[in-house]
Amino acid sequence: MRNSRCLSLPLAGCLPLILLGSAWAMAQPSGFNYDESKVPQYQLPDPLVLADGSPVRDADTWRQRRRTEILRLFETHVYGRTPERKLPVTFQPVSVDPKALGGRATRKEVDICFTSEKQDGPCMRLLLYVPNSASGPVPVFLGLNFGGNHTIHADPGITLSRAWMRDGRPATDDNRGQAAGRWQVETVLDRGYALATIYYGDIVPDHKDGLSQGVPKLFYTADQTQPAADQWGAIGAWAWGLSRAVDYLETDPDIAGDKVALLGHSRLGKTALWAGALDERFRLVISNNSGCGGAALSRRAFGETVQRINTSFPHWFCDNFNQYNGREADLPVDQHMLVALIAPRPVYIASAQEDSWADPRGEFLSALHADPVYRLLGTEGLGGATEQPPIDHPVGRQIGYHIRTGKHDVTAYDWQQYLDFADRHLLGKASD
Ligand code: GCU
Repeated sequence: MRNSRCLSLPLAGCLPLILLGSAWAMAQPSGFNYDESKVPQYQLPDPLVLADGSPVRDADTWRQRRRTEILRLFETHVYGRTPERKLPVTFQPVSVDPKALGGRATRKEVDICFTSEKQDGPCMRLLLYVPNSASGPVPVFLGLNFGGNHTIHADPGITLSRAWMRDGRPATDDNRGQAAGRWQVETVLDRGYALATIYYGDIVPDHKDGLSQGVPKLFYTADQTQPAADQWGAIGAWAWGLSRAVDYLETDPDIAGDKVALLGHSRLGKTALWAGALDERFRLVISNNSGCGGAALSRRAFGETVQRINTSFPHWFCDNFNQYNGREADLPVDQHMLVALIAPRPVYIASAQEDSWADPRGEFLSALHADPVYRLLGTEGLGGATEQPPIDHPVGRQIGYHIRTGKHDVTAYDWQQYLDFADRHLLGKASD
């Protein structure tokens, strides 16, 4: 199944590494490569060459043949297969406050549950804010969160999560709003968008035994205790949960169900890209600092490597991905092909200057090498950018990209770009 023709890449350009002090030390585990001149020579599989070696020259061949080939390769070798069986999903209203955030928004909480008989779980709780200024259904930004719904805003009306928490401590009122900077709720609402989020631990607890405690166990056969080598890991299951959130959003009369913008940061940025590849109902996809196994090219082995991610987080990918530990060149795909699977839908890839672990240049190169697919499908792709832009200078058309000042995080600056991008692509507002 390997491609016979590959793209040759010169190791042009060098990301300026002007990073000193403690932030540098924290953001960059030692023993990994952060030197552009030490990136190995590599060849990328060509997204526009079929497995049989013939070129993809038209949108139909991409759509009907090559896209499916690439999807299967990612399923088999990287993220694992998502079960085809449908679970009986129910939506159970938990709370509604039409005057939340000082009257600015309607806040809803809905439990999306995956067992029909007892309706006692597992369930994931969707938190939704809809701007009260809206005169009809609005587009929505959807994203999983790391710390529980109550961390995205100090709003005391958000129920505290009772699920497994990353730091081992139960959620308390003290955690309210601790990740508010990453969500910019008021700004999003004021720009005319709804915001929906779910705690990722509701779907799969993020630790090595989590798969058998979360949603995946619902799909196990009678004697199964863990996914098979080509079955999904946590990233696949989180992506599945995001699709179930769209199932709900499509039924909510306040939401334009065909205008769901998916946003994910870091491991949840990897998840957003994979979810966007699997489910074409995501109209726009944003990868914020997603790094290795996300937007960054694996073959560069810059910062985090395949071996390291599989060792530190053995539950994220499928077991087959371990075969590529230290052997990135043998992967039948690279991450530019993941971005290409989202084409022709708008995709935005964002890097941070101090986030060398996530390989900002490798994230840009994925965008660049997905561009031919976006162009074949009749879009302007990266808009003619061929080099990584300077810090804080967003580029692109159907593929957006920026690298901003600062560290691994989601900031107001990032949101500004995402909202402008969504205005262009979901609301039809002219750019510039
Ligand atoms: C670790 C991991 C990254 C991941 C990040 C996160 O740093 O190595 O791959 O993106 O955690 O999700 O916070």
